[in-house]
Amino acid sequence: MNVADSEIVASILKDSEFTITDDINKANLILINTCSIRENAEQRIFARLKEMACLKRRNAGLTVGIIGCMAERLKNSLLENEKLVDIVVGPDAYRELPNLISEAENGHKAINVLLSREETYADIAPVRLDKNGVSSFIAIMRGCNNMCAYCVVPYVRGTERSRNPDSIIKEAEELFKNGYREVTLLGQNVDSYNWNDINFPKLLERVAAINPMLRVRFATSHPKDISDELIYTIARNENICRHIHLPAQSGSNRILKLMNRGYTREWYMERIKTIKAIIPDCAVSTDMIAGFCTETEDDHKESLSLMEWAGYDFAYMFKYSERPGTKAARKYKDDVAEEIKSERLTEMITLQNKLSAASKKHDVGKNFLTLIEGNSKRSQENFFGRTSQNKVVVFPTSQSKKGDYVNVLVERSTSATLIGKIVG
Ligand code: 5AD
Ligand code: SF4
Repeated sequence: MNVADSEIVASILKDSEFTITDDINKANLILINTCSIRENAEQRIFARLKEMACLKRRNAGLTVGIIGCMAERLKNSLLENEKLVDIVVGPDAYRELPNLISEAENGHKAINVLLSREETYADIAPVRLDKNGVSSFIAIMRGCNNMCAYCVVPYVRGTERSRNPDSIIKEAEELFKNGYREVTLLGQNVDSYNWNDINFPKLLERVAAINPMLRVRFATSHPKDISDELIYTIARNENICRHIHLPAQSGSNRILKLMNRGYTREWYMERIKTIKAIIPDCAVSTDMIAGFCTETEDDHKESLSLMEWAGYDFAYMFKYSERPGTKAARKYKDDVAEEIKSERLTEMITLQNKLSAASKKHDVGKNFLTLIEGNSKRSQENFFGRTSQNKVVVFPTSQSKKGDYVNVLVERSTSATLIGKIVG
């Protein structure tokens, strides 16, 4: 989401005659797009700001801004405490950036952290910062209304709002025309996308209809909202990728309730069963939190057993990190010791490595339609690409090129990668 936001910021600044440099020493404006989801994300930004101090000493004309979620969360304190920051702009105020930059250049501290109920930046054509030219993100909505007890997103990104579908289709068509072959539709909870009569499955199908050669992905689905209609829509459209990111967060009903997730373990399992019944070759991935408030060893075992049962193809796993202002921070105690959180996280990661390896091994001997994304980082003689299930495949190069589809026979695998050759 932050990549997509940076592309909107780049577009707004380009219209104000700014250009992008790859050389940080040449920059006279540096904007750091930030994340507040966990404390360590914020710590990294504070470390980055220290580096900015050196640059500022060398270049008196340098303006430094903090944009995004940390700007929203910390507001004035960033300007007051961190003398290094000249501009602070929250996620709904990017249109104000050119004015705020002028103010900062005139020696004033510039801040705008107003959240909006309407802003979707629908009319802004993002400047693609990722140079790969094959795969891109499209934000289809902003904010979140879910209020998961641990999560700072609703506070820093505001209430949920959907973007006009026509502007989404136009953006996807434009990308396809420019050679892109994959788009990922982004929202904090795509299943609650809604614009007049257009719900998420309808939007997804419209994007998929642009061209069968355009792969469509999406993130993130919410287990309480993912509908049979969505699952059938994926099944019906070959170019909607067979991968659903469905964060469980925990396998314990008691913890899910405390987290305010709105579903039970049984409900979640039923959703996975339905996905696998309707789309047998669908990959499923998850996010898991280790050591949420009051989590016992038994609760943790239930998370592990859910992971094992689901046989996830991939997982993002995190230690619980208390975020000021959230329901969990206000009402519960962050009472799982740091060492226990670390132990539980390690157990999860060890289990997931085993599950990921098993998921890859299962693919050996099969053919997969693979979209070539470029040369493998390790060797110019290999391409890398992705299967519909979002698994990375590495295989020897051929006459084909980046952005082409090829059939790859998987010959072996590691826990992270499939290795094969082009066939047919
Ligand atoms: N601590 C740890 N992980 C968190 N996430 C969100 N908030 C927190 C937090 N306070 C994780 C969730 C979410 C992912 C984007 O980040 O797993 O799905
Ligand atoms: Fe945060 Fe929950 Fe919204 Fe996801 S659905 S962004 S975890 S509040």
